Amino acid sequence: MEQKPIPGADDPALIAAFEARIASGESIEPKDWMPERYRKQLTRMMSQHAHSEIVGMLPEGNWVTRAPSLRRKMSLIAKVQDEAGHGLYIYCGAETLGVDRHDLFNQLLNGTAKYSSIFNYPTLSWADMGVIGWLVDGAAIVNQTVLAKTSYGPYARAMVRICKEENFHKRQGYEICATLASGTPAQQAMLQDAVDRIWWPSLAMFGPSDKDSPNTGELLRWKVKRKTNDELRQRFVNLTVPQAQAIGLTLPDPDLTFNAETKNWDFGEIDWAEFFDVIKGNGPCNRERLEARNTAHDDGQWIRDAATAFAAKHAKRGVEAP
Ligand SMILES: [Fe+2]
Ligand SMILES: [Fe+2]
Repeated sequence: MEQKPIPGADDPALIAAFEARIASGESIEPKDWMPERYRKQLTRMMSQHAHSEIVGMLPEGNWVTRAPSLRRKMSLIAKVQDEAGHGLYIYCGAETLGVDRHDLFNQLLNGTAKYSSIFNYPTLSWADMGVIGWLVDGAAIVNQTVLAKTSYGPYARAMVRICKEENFHKRQGYEICATLASGTPAQQAMLQDAVDRIWWPSLAMFGPSDKDSPNTGELLRWKVKRKTNDELRQRFVNLTVPQAQAIGLTLPDPDLTFNAETKNWDFGEIDWAEFFDVIKGNGPCNRERLEARNTAHDDGQWIRDAATAFAAKHAKRGVEAP
């Protein structure tokens, strides 16, 4: 289903009234008038976010069968399952913008949709489960805590609930890291290796630098975004450096230094060429992730058919399917 154009999309009086509402801190709800561009931007952001939650299940799902204890297995399964819930919740929120979730799924399956670049990296060791929870979910919390104040009501409310679960994800990850950090030299080396691989891609998760992020001005004005990519990235670095220090880890950046004047941790240049290459589909696992998603979708066809047949049978009898 194509999104129907919004009536009066270019009407300057309507746009002025909309912007006045935003400026006064009101939230925009699905039935409210909104500029076409606002709806398009939110559809793009929410669908990319939902796809990221769903694809994000794959690198960690890969380790469920190899978790080192029942307790670790239970918390990893719970975390991966939470991510499915986040995806469904955000697809549902995106549908309030007049888009059909099946169209969004199809864009993911046929490779035309984007999702977070971090999930195109492999998970090579058990330590990756700790570092992903700590850094990747940690970065997601920084991003999503601010999105919980976004001007579009359904997105903001979804983020409030999701952030509560992300905190559990981050803690379970950091606990794995802290355990390995106080383990044998081999465990410590495995952990440091995971940090060395995942640190830079987790900084890139905040998106391009503000100077290369053309939509930022408009998104800030409409309070879709409340902070720029660089501001959020800096906040994440400032929060994370002391956590790394607390468990004796070295972050792989020789330029990382505390700036007494700004009270920020200054850091080195991100490899943006690599970032854009991964976004374009050339990361180490892009193909594998899409294949896995497509296989899972195809394998689930029978249950969708069964659910449709069940609903049709009940509709015929005049009873509502549960
Ligand atoms: Fe999530
Ligand atoms: Fe998470």
